[in-house]
Amino acid sequence: MTARKKFFITGGMGFIGSHIVRKLLERQHKIIVFDSFIQYVSPGQFDNFANPYNRLKNVLGKITIIRGNLTDINILREALYKYKPDYVIHLAAMPLANLANIAPEEAKESIISGTANLIYLLRGVKNLKRLVYISSSMVYGDFEMLPVREDARTEPKGVYGALKLCAEIIVKTYCELYDIDYTIVRPTAVYGPYDGNKRVIRIFLENAFLGKPIRIRGKEVKLDFTYVKDAADGIILAAITKKASRQTFNISRGEGRTLIEAAKIIASLVPGTKIKCDEKNSAYPKRGAMDITKARKILKYSPKYSLEKGIKEYYEFLQSRLNA
Ligand SMILES: NC(=O)c1ccc[n+]([C@@H]2O[C@H](COP(=O)([O-])OP(=O)(O)OC[C@H]3O[C@@H](n4cnc5c(N)ncnc54)[C@H](O)[C@@H]3O)[C@@H](O)[C@H]2O)c1
Repeated sequence: MTARKKFFITGGMGFIGSHIVRKLLERQHKIIVFDSFIQYVSPGQFDNFANPYNRLKNVLGKITIIRGNLTDINILREALYKYKPDYVIHLAAMPLANLANIAPEEAKESIISGTANLIYLLRGVKNLKRLVYISSSMVYGDFEMLPVREDARTEPKGVYGALKLCAEIIVKTYCELYDIDYTIVRPTAVYGPYDGNKRVIRIFLENAFLGKPIRIRGKEVKLDFTYVKDAADGIILAAITKKASRQTFNISRGEGRTLIEAAKIIASLVPGTKIKCDEKNSAYPKRGAMDITKARKILKYSPKYSLEKGIKEYYEFLQSRLNA
């Protein structure tokens, strides 16, 4: 795609969204970010890297930012009808499974009402080419097959996965009803610079920096760790690839790696780091690799970051921030 297009990105100030914004700017597209500047925080997990302005610091002058909540239909309507985007990438939502379990009402407002409002209003956006909905691998629950394909059984465990699956159904049903083109993307275990949430790789790295042991919850646990730049590439391809219309894609590295492997990579970067194993957290589904054959074939998606390469780049980023 060579022509300059207008992308409306809900949650564009967030972790994954900000990487998408940067990549689209490099390709000269026009960006409108719609974001409520909410930092969903699990108790005891706040940190200030998450300041959304830090994420897009040197490109703030090149984008339009609208502060608004998707649950406020008037602000959303005004923004959509004013900017008339070509593409909408919808990321804005509570992104934390553990928090959704303790704040289910808030999670429902954010994941369900926000999505329904957005699609309802998109009916009136002339020339819209596509809505891309960012779902999650948590819709599968325990992975039925390994690697898990997009057509596998979906039996989520917990509030977050259930709501993301409901939102997928809302996207499909409303978009068919209103004749809006859509694509659904299921990322998993995304890690990398500017994550404001203390997810596993981040916690491991911080412990190593502080000279604390890395604590593994479940020796056997495997995740398909996905570097955020690969996730952003996959999401952009899902927006612009014609054949992705009305399809669902897994977007990940495509490899299941154990928590111990991740911890050992970090220990090789921070010598002296000790690794300790605890019991698995039984509230989490049994996961592993996602099958990305469909994304490779239709989207020409090709992730570039092995876990080794991604952790090294993230380590260097965090180290430079901590030094600063
Ligand atoms: N990070 C992961 O590993 C991962 C994996 C699978 C799926 N996802 C999905 O990707 C999306 C983005 O996740 P993230 O990790 O970048 O989260 P994030 O919290 O860093 O970013 C979310 C952004 O959305 C905004 N937002 C939240 N609710 C909003 C609302 N109602 N109206 C307007 N803006 C709102 C927030 O202010 C924030 O800037 C989420 O939908 C999440 O469920 C994330």
